[in-house]
Amino acid sequence: MVYDVTMLRAFYAAYKGKMERVRAVLQHPLTLAEKILYTHLFDGKEVKNYTRGEDYVSFRPDRVAMQDATAQMALLQFMNAGREQVAVPSTVHCDHLIQAYRGAREDIATATKTNEEVYDFLRDVSSRYGIGFWQPGAGIIHQVVLENYAFPGGMMVGTDSHTPNAGGLGMVAIGVGGADAVDVMTGMEWELKMPRLIGVHLKGELNGWAAPKDVILKLAGILTVKGGTNAIIEYFGPGTASLSATGKATICNMGAEVGATTSIFPYDNRIATYLKATGREEVAEMADSVAGDLRADTDILLAPENYYDRVIEIDLSRLEPYINGPFTPDAATPISEFAEKVLANGYPRKMEVGLIGSCTNSSYQDLSRAVSLARQVEKKHLKVAAPLIVNPGSERIRATAERDGMIETFEKVGATIMANACGPCIGQWKRETDNPTRKNSIVTSFNRNFAKRADGNPNTYAFVASPELTMALTIAGDLCFNPLTDALVNREGEKVKLSEPVGEELPPEGFAEGSEGYIPPRSEKTEITVNPHSQRLQLLQPFPAWEGTDLLNMPLLIKTQGKCTTDHISMAGPWLRFRGHLENISDNMLMGAVNAFNGETNSVWNRSTNTYGPVSGTAKMYKSEGISSIVVAEENYGEGSSREHAAMEPRFLNVRVILAKSFARIHETNLKKQGMLALTFVDKADYDKIQEHDLISVIGLTEFAPGRNFKVVLHHEDGTKESFEAQHTYNELQISWFRAGSALNAR
Ligand code: F3S
Repeated sequence: MVYDVTMLRAFYAAYKGKMERVRAVLQHPLTLAEKILYTHLFDGKEVKNYTRGEDYVSFRPDRVAMQDATAQMALLQFMNAGREQVAVPSTVHCDHLIQAYRGAREDIATATKTNEEVYDFLRDVSSRYGIGFWQPGAGIIHQVVLENYAFPGGMMVGTDSHTPNAGGLGMVAIGVGGADAVDVMTGMEWELKMPRLIGVHLKGELNGWAAPKDVILKLAGILTVKGGTNAIIEYFGPGTASLSATGKATICNMGAEVGATTSIFPYDNRIATYLKATGREEVAEMADSVAGDLRADTDILLAPENYYDRVIEIDLSRLEPYINGPFTPDAATPISEFAEKVLANGYPRKMEVGLIGSCTNSSYQDLSRAVSLARQVEKKHLKVAAPLIVNPGSERIRATAERDGMIETFEKVGATIMANACGPCIGQWKRETDNPTRKNSIVTSFNRNFAKRADGNPNTYAFVASPELTMALTIAGDLCFNPLTDALVNREGEKVKLSEPVGEELPPEGFAEGSEGYIPPRSEKTEITVNPHSQRLQLLQPFPAWEGTDLLNMPLLIKTQGKCTTDHISMAGPWLRFRGHLENISDNMLMGAVNAFNGETNSVWNRSTNTYGPVSGTAKMYKSEGISSIVVAEENYGEGSSREHAAMEPRFLNVRVILAKSFARIHETNLKKQGMLALTFVDKADYDKIQEHDLISVIGLTEFAPGRNFKVVLHHEDGTKESFEAQHTYNELQISWFRAGSALNAR
């Protein structure tokens, strides 16, 4: 048993009493999200009706999970916090740094060697501070959390944007930056703006080719990548009980793709069954004892529009399989319309690689449904047209799939089984192609498909679908194939159709053992050493405090155009190796962002040299000359992942202000935590006033206060000036972070 049962007994013993106190004060029916949020207030005496979307509230989460790429910076910050032990159960998961190339065995051996210094650091810091440590190959953070740690009614934070995966077991699980994780690990209050609530009413039951993934693919089309910002998506209605716990987790996982703070399902028998199947009978029993408060109150289900800020209805019985993409996960198209879209837009029709697995879709149910299609290849004398890659979510899943013959079936159709790690999902894919300049299409059962995300190639058109649809398209090798209606031609020249996928929700013989690679928390007095010449790790120096004046005449570093995700700001792939070394990783700053003035990436005007150069190099030169700079951006700046490097890199390189049309939630918080100014245009049309050679001043910092706007003055090259207002969402505490130089400095 790897979870902390004593903590859980105390949690469920106290849950009912906490709920009674919350009800006594709030005096209205409660949604599930509200129940969990209000029972996790940092100070239980602070119960009052907080205004959603406005009030900042302090919480006390139960756990922290960190993946290896973000844990480095989180733990480097924790080491500066002066604590002896983590205040809540915490874990580190080595999943992001393993490159997918030859297959699990070889790739883990390579990763263990190339990342030795980082793994040793993470293991030693974990041992030193009482953190559980999952070694490379043990599994992907969210799958391991689901199998071992997530519990109904709980609250956790994780340094990964897909932390909401645990919502599948009825937990409020939120993706955060490392500095937020440090707050929780040090036992300090953790602050969040009280989220709005989006209720998704699920009716009916899935059937045929439709999978849980299609629920969120459809919802992404409705909400778009921004539609869930500062909101919790709460699922309710009879359809919820028809979905397996792992299916619910898939849906919650991808809530990150619509910017949701988190997503959550009510506790039910399917969740209880999963808890029992993963060795947590006692957790299921304890959850049963408070089950009435692990779902929304009945009054809410009768009139949901009175309680949720928005209600969306999805009829599972009529849901079609979806394919989303390319380049953005909200480009949702039902399979019946997809071929037409492919042809109309000239997407490369040939399907070149299928990828199944990741934290999103590697449950037993997912794999068994995909395998049911793979089995038809031999039976129906078909050929598999495209290569297939499978990356299981955990060693437990992989070992079970191997025992039950699923791995063998995948291998028979030519699959490469990669390590139980992120791999291609985070750009850690050493893909071999004949010509990288050729446009090509891939289909994955992952969650994210921004340009270059999987293989670093801007010419790859990545589409996201369920594992079963990914498998079917891999067999066909054709994006225009619709397995619901179309036939394939087999080796004998006959037309054959694929039968609908079928699969088991849970392994009939139970899960095979799978906690190999786990080192439980201890608190050894291990000495942590970081080689000062290391290229991978660097101890952090505090950022300087605010100088006490307005920020005047800052050169514009870059005015970005269009999407600017955390992948554009701080690329993953090969750069992952520098996630523990702020100076080195800063060399990738904003290299994927498009310069609005020349349409190019990583090419900005440098006023010191009057030439064009890389964004990072230009900022570095300004920094060496003692000059601060400013970045201007469009909508939803920083969408995507929780990586705080996207905020720390500009801070390190003396960028002081990000002025955007809007921000993604996690990134905006990360900027605030690192002492940056995150401002938005009051009038978005002012974005157009900014010229390439402008010097920009931000006036009003000495009167920095919640709700008070700043004045932005543009000093154009021709000597003229323009000014407009910019707004912010800083509260008093966050303003103190800015003044101190960072949240860490302000402790
Ligand atoms: Fe890994 Fe899942 Fe993120 S597979 S890269 S944790 S989306």
